[in-house]
Amino acid sequence: MMFEKSDYIAVFDSGVGGVSVLRELIKLMPQEKYLYFGDSANAPYGTRPTSEVRDLTLAAAEKLMARGCKALVVACNTATAAAIKDLREIYPDKIIIGIEPALKVAADHFPGREVGVMATPVTLREEKFDILLHRFSDSCTVYKIPAPGLVELVEHGKAESAETEALLAPLLSPYKDRLSAVVLGCTHYPFAARIIQQLVGRNTALLDGGPGTARQTRRRLQAEGLLWNGPGELLIENSSSSEEMVVLCRKLLASDA
Ligand code: DGL
Repeated sequence: MMFEKSDYIAVFDSGVGGVSVLRELIKLMPQEKYLYFGDSANAPYGTRPTSEVRDLTLAAAEKLMARGCKALVVACNTATAAAIKDLREIYPDKIIIGIEPALKVAADHFPGREVGVMATPVTLREEKFDILLHRFSDSCTVYKIPAPGLVELVEHGKAESAETEALLAPLLSPYKDRLSAVVLGCTHYPFAARIIQQLVGRNTALLDGGPGTARQTRRRLQAEGLLWNGPGELLIENSSSSEEMVVLCRKLLASDA
């Protein structure tokens, strides 16, 4: 199936994680046409040099733009940190939305409290995150919690497995019952939310940037008069040669995780 030129919203991630943003977009705008592209052949992005993440993101965006999308949602905190500036320079006439860790939501809701930010090493070390941190460091105490290996488990369909629990337990147990909120600063992580919640304690709020990114996308489309009135459609593509990744995306989209 091919969409008409310029009809669809392209949603991009390094792999299957962006489906956690896609589901929020669909919830908010079910009448839109979506093309989801996951670059699982090159995932994870979050442990690569920033220049590689930028190149991979620009290459994926070029292919999506060539197909004439009306908006590009970078549903990957890592790709946003590495390439959003370049994307906006290269495509000044397109709506380009990038997800970033929901630190503002944490600071607004939990002033003066302790919050953790789980994200990939690239996201946590980039200037974009430093700027975000400085904006809110007076409002709350922020702990950076990198979670190397979690993206790979989600890519392998093991988000809710004993392996995920074993990987996260030593990272999160020091924070048990201590944080007001944990920001899920990588779009793969919401799929492991049940395990994360159990490890940090049930009184800690988990904050996911997906809903805010979806609302921002709708605002921008509305402002440009580009909202589509259905029927909604969804096309899922992946750079992996195996059809399995597309199947996994559909499974994650249907899951309640
Ligand atoms: N899902 C991506 C994010 O939001 C990163 C996953 C990866 O490391 O490839 O940061």
